Order: sequence, then structure tokens, then C-alpha cells
Amino acid sequence: MLDVALDAFCCTAKQASGNPSSMHWSGRAARRALDDARDTVAHALNTESGSLIFTAGGTEANNMAIYGSLMRAKQGNVVVSAIEHPSVLETIEHWCKHFGHDLNVIRPDRQGLMDAKKFCAALNEKTVFASLMWANNESGVIQPVHEIVKVCRQREIPCLIDGVQALGKIATDVKALDADFVSFSAHKIGGAKGVGVLVVRRGSALEPWLLGGGQERGRRSGTENVPGVVAFAAALGVMDYASCAHVRDDFEQYLKSLMPDVTVHGDKAERVANTSMFTVPGMDGETLLMQLDLAGFAVASGSACSSGKREPSHVLRAMGVDDRAARSSLRVSFGLEHSQEDAHALVDELVRIRALLRKMAGR
Ligand SMILES: Cc1ncc(COP(=O)(O)O)c(C=O)c1O
Repeated sequence: MLDVALDAFCCTAKQASGNPSSMHWSGRAARRALDDARDTVAHALNTESGSLIFTAGGTEANNMAIYGSLMRAKQGNVVVSAIEHPSVLETIEHWCKHFGHDLNVIRPDRQGLMDAKKFCAALNEKTVFASLMWANNESGVIQPVHEIVKVCRQREIPCLIDGVQALGKIATDVKALDADFVSFSAHKIGGAKGVGVLVVRRGSALEPWLLGGGQERGRRSGTENVPGVVAFAAALGVMDYASCAHVRDDFEQYLKSLMPDVTVHGDKAERVANTSMFTVPGMDGETLLMQLDLAGFAVASGSACSSGKREPSHVLRAMGVDDRAARSSLRVSFGLEHSQEDAHALVDELVRIRALLRKMAGR
């Protein structure tokens, strides 16, 4: 967590510890803190405070939009990109099966970029829901969400944009996007884990799925995580990940200069500034990850959310990367605290580890 978010979290937990639904002074203080934070988050996203539903993270926000929309839909089909986060892809697969909708999964090109025309060509009069992420969590590639939302709006197809990886890294003007649902998560920008938001466009229908208290205007019951939401608002005030670009770009340049056989995925497309995903041929990604861990570097092989599963990344597979190369891939995310020296130290360590592993294998 960013210091500013942690301070806001602790201060709110101590000074506004009441339940925002309570009428007494302590509850009113918590309500004030929550309302102020809601206004700050709405302002940062350029939307109305009333359109926000605070959730326990991006996963819940995505689930909420998908279930809350499909629950009301007539029998039809759902169009989704193949590179969505599992909280979208698996949830859509689940509810399509349950409600009997057909599922149309659209693949990106080899750079991991969705072709807006191809995506829109899949939308038809039977489409009841569409979903595309703003930026991919593995490659960092920024997707043509504005074009797709425009077509969905014209055809009145409810549309979810998963903005979790875009927040703080590119402009996320929700009003200009005009999607029915946009999801965000606080911990991706230095807020607390377990805090997120679903932005619901005014007039878009959403069936509530957490019932029993009526919070969040009846759309998400459960006592609100006031310190978490206040910390989210505080983190939004300092987000500027674009400044990581020179560190990431320098990292990739240095990496390629010392390891020319490395492939950086999505590097020809526009990407968010902090993400680098690459294949080190002949090496096992998990082994590299563990060796780097011993050296003090925290990186991911494939998606962090699916680490622990030995399946190659579904994103790389969708980009046409073969399983062998996908299993040899690593993903590095740079934070505001990282310098070019850190980036070089990581490359030097990778070079050392590869040489060591090759020696051990007698290669
Ligand atoms: C694109 C994307 N969507 C959704 C999520 C889930 O967010 P959370 O961890 O807040 O549940 C993640 C998490 O990595 C993500 O990268």
C-alpha cells in the first residue's frame, strides 16, 4: 500500500470506526468519511457518486456486473474476449451454462490486441452481454474499448469493461467511455486489498446479488469497508504509473541486449507503462521465478492470479504463443518505487540464473 493510503486507512479505522448505517455520532462520522471518499473516487473517474457500488475487489465487481445483467437477460449469446481475467471469463462461462446462453469467445491478434471490427462483427441481435478488458493484466496491452462500447451502446447490448489494470496507468474517464459497467480494484494502485468498485451507468439495469441490508442503494448489501474505501480515494490522488514507462522500456532494452533470444509479448502494441511479459527460450518460467525469488525479486510466471496452476497462460495461448514458450515466460510489474538500477539488477540476475541452470543441465 502507498503510505498515503495506509495512513488514510489507519486514521479512518481509528477515528470513523462506527457503522455508516448507524444513526449515532460514531456512525455519522463513518458515513461522512464514506460519502467524502465516494465523491473523491467519482471525481477521479469522472462519473457521478451515485453510479458507484463499492465491492470487495475487482473480482466481485466483475461477478456483480455479469450475474446482475445475465440474470435479467432473455436467452441469447454472450461475446467476450479470450484474454479476460478469470473473474470475467470463468464467471461468464459459468452463468452462460446456467442460464443456457451461447458463448462466443473472440481471440486477439499475436500482439494480444483485440480487433474492434472482429469483436463487433460477433455482436448480433441475440447478443445479451459483451465484455472486454481495458488493459490486459499479463501483456499490459491496451484494448480498443471505446470503439466496442460505442457499438454496444448503439445496439443496446449491456457491456462490461474490466478497468482493473487500466486504473492509474492510463486515463480512465468513465463518462467518456459510457459503458454500462466498469470495474476497478484498489490494490492495483496502492490501495488496500479486498476493495473495488463497480461503476454502473445511469439507466443500466443491474439485478442485485448480495441481499439483506440494502447498502449501496440496495445494490450491494453488507456493511461498507469504510477505511478501505477512504484508502482507495487517497491512493487515487497520487496515481501516476505512466512515469514507470522509462524503467520498463529500459528494462526491456537491457534484457534484449544481454539475451537477444528473448521475446517480449505485445511490445508492438500500445501497453500500460508498468508491465513486461517475455519468454526466455529453453527455461522453465516457474524455475526462473523461484530462483529470482531467492534473490529477492518478486515476479510472476503467467498471470499472478493463476499462479499455482501449472496450466500455461490462457492469454499467451490466445495470442498464438505455443505452450512451450508460454511455460518459459515471466511477467514483471514495475511500481512507482522502482528505479533503472532495480531493472538492471533484475536482468543481471536473470542472466546469472540462466547461465547457472544451463551449466547444471550440462548445456
Ligand atoms: C484485469 C483484472 N481484473 C480483475 C482482477 C481481480 O481483481 P481483485 O484482485 O481485486 O479481485 C484482476 C486482478 O489481478 C485483474 O488483473
